[in-house]
Amino acid sequence: MIVTLDGPASSGKSLAARRLADRLGWPHLNTGAMYRAVTLAALERGVDLTDGAALAALAAAPELEFTPGSVRVFGRDPGPALRSRAVDESIKLVADCPAVRAVLVARQQAMAGEDLVTEGRDQGTIVFPAAALKIYLTASLATRARRRLGDVLRDRPGATLDEVMDDLARRDADDQGRAIGALRIAADAVQLHTDDLTPEEVTDRLVALVEAARAAAGGGR
Ligand code: DC
Repeated sequence: MIVTLDGPASSGKSLAARRLADRLGWPHLNTGAMYRAVTLAALERGVDLTDGAALAALAAAPELEFTPGSVRVFGRDPGPALRSRAVDESIKLVADCPAVRAVLVARQQAMAGEDLVTEGRDQGTIVFPAAALKIYLTASLATRARRRLGDVLRDRPGATLDEVMDDLARRDADDQGRAIGALRIAADAVQLHTDDLTPEEVTDRLVALVEAARAAAGGGR
């Protein structure tokens, strides 16, 4: 069964998706890492970020290896470089590019086996519209900024909560304003607001939703 988890930046999707997949023993696909890998590869190779055809060719290249649970760029695990400031600053051009999205959507669909937990912005709306369970995970801007501040401070000592909130608000506008693949709540998605939940509670709720969806499907697998 395919479970999609969509939601804004720093909503806790990645942690929730990873924990849910671990609990179920299913593969976990982080599609944000794929957009990050294309951006990193373009920066490393000096590809013009306004050249959609060149970016799409890079997204399709076998040197970018994607499997659920891992991303390799030119034969190596990119590690923290995937979340560097340089990638954050350039990723909008890559994620907005329709030709890149077409390639990555096809690669995501090709990775879906029988069971999958997949997270991103467009997983329930565009990539897996027939998914058995769609979840939209969210939290208030203030909560997301508080959760993110620790990470930002490691990179940029002296960063303030206000700066992180402004940055997240800009990301939300980018994600919601994208012409193709915009962040939207699928009509049949279950919304989970995580402001008052611990990561463990979020995982418990998600596992319960999966169990209910399995029972409804009559499989009980
Ligand atoms: O989830 P993340 O913050 O690692 O995602 C990185 C970027 O990729 C973010 O700017 C939104 C974009 N993205 C997207 O457009 N579609 C997806 N399915 C996943 C991520």
